[in-house]
Amino acid sequence: MSWVSDYQYKWYETLAMNVVRAGGNVPRHIAFVMDGNRRYAKSQCLPKIDGHSHGFEKLANCLRWCLDMGIKEVTTFAFSIENYKRSEEEVNDLLDLAREKFRKILLEEQKLNEHGVRIRVIGNINLLPEDLQLLIAKAMMLTEHNDKLFLNIAFSYTSRDEITQAVETIVKLGEGLEPEDISQRLIEECLYTRNSLPPDMLFRTSGETRISDFLMWQISTTVLYFTNILWPQITLWNFLCGIFTYQRACLRLEPFKRHKRIEHAMQAKECNYYSDRVLNFLQKLDSYRKNVLYSLSTSN
Ligand code: FPP
Ligand code: MG
Repeated sequence: MSWVSDYQYKWYETLAMNVVRAGGNVPRHIAFVMDGNRRYAKSQCLPKIDGHSHGFEKLANCLRWCLDMGIKEVTTFAFSIENYKRSEEEVNDLLDLAREKFRKILLEEQKLNEHGVRIRVIGNINLLPEDLQLLIAKAMMLTEHNDKLFLNIAFSYTSRDEITQAVETIVKLGEGLEPEDISQRLIEECLYTRNSLPPDMLFRTSGETRISDFLMWQISTTVLYFTNILWPQITLWNFLCGIFTYQRACLRLEPFKRHKRIEHAMQAKECNYYSDRVLNFLQKLDSYRKNVLYSLSTSN
């Protein structure tokens, strides 16, 4: 199964997509918590890993729906740092599945380029086996010029770890910074999501109404949507229902969200918001991250 599925819409599904899209206020950025894979596997008397594999197939469908809906950015929770605590067998199976899927990216470069999909893995990849780090770096480098759909895969990720890493980065690379340079905005620049606007909507399946340490910094104004369906059973109708719910929420939220976006733009580097010390630091951070990726992706 490819990363972006060739989902064949029935005529009435195309109609429903068009109606929802025409309603306006389609989220620019949507985050998915793909929960319920093991419950699905259990319900079908399948091994746990088959639940995760089915989950991947549904992710590929969702990406297709997002592309066709005009959504620009998707962030999906594929492997939490908490998941390392699962049985050795399940962790190894999940890492093998990831190996298979990241290898696949290297093979379907052309298709991803056609769709303009840029893959970014967010998370503490140092915790992963080296061969997987390498595949991830290659996949990221291979698609770095694409800009139609940004796909952020949270892998080996938790929010608390992300924030901890951000502080560590400031301490490691921040020589020359002064206490007054430390701000929310600076911490935000050190998060893995540095190049993204916050998600407009977070979509979680399986009836759990928790955030589970996912994008906690980023979702302060995000519309949360919970549905009882298990992730491997998600259909286009569940997806559209989520988008529709978001559209209704937007009618109340829009003035506030617009205000937040303006605030974001005002704070951007182009507006001379940062001191030279901070700009130097951010440059250092950029080249540090690029070098890490580049040397990983070119080793072997
Ligand atoms: C949560 O369901 C799901 C996961 C921990 C893994 C999700 C991974 C995939 C869908 C595969 C994607 C792979 C890549 C490389 C993007 P759960 O295991 O918590 O199920 P449960 O809630 O029923 O116990
Ligand atoms: Mg779960």
